[in-house]
Amino acid sequence: AFEVELARTGVSLQVGADETILDVLDANGIDAAFSCEQGVCGTCVTDVIAGTLDHRDSFLSDKQRAAGKQMCLCVSRANGDKLVLDL
Ligand code: FES
Repeated sequence: AFEVELARTGVSLQVGADETILDVLDANGIDAAFSCEQGVCGTCVTDVIAGTLDHRDSFLSDKQRAAGKQMCLCVSRANGDKLVLDL
């Protein structure tokens, strides 16, 4: 599990091993755009303010992945304890 902090509201949410960030946002009534839910379309790409990413999508370029400033909420995760997202 890891923590996701939403920078615009200061809300912190826990993401369990068997759920995605998108699942957790939805369960908490937070709207985030999505479509494929498979890391392919890029609809859910969100800016990352802090934290290390475990990219599991096939949408971002290697360059974007390495920069670590964006992620696909539907499949990618934290590689650490916490992410701060621009949401
Ligand atoms: Fe398509 Fe996340 S919803 S990449």
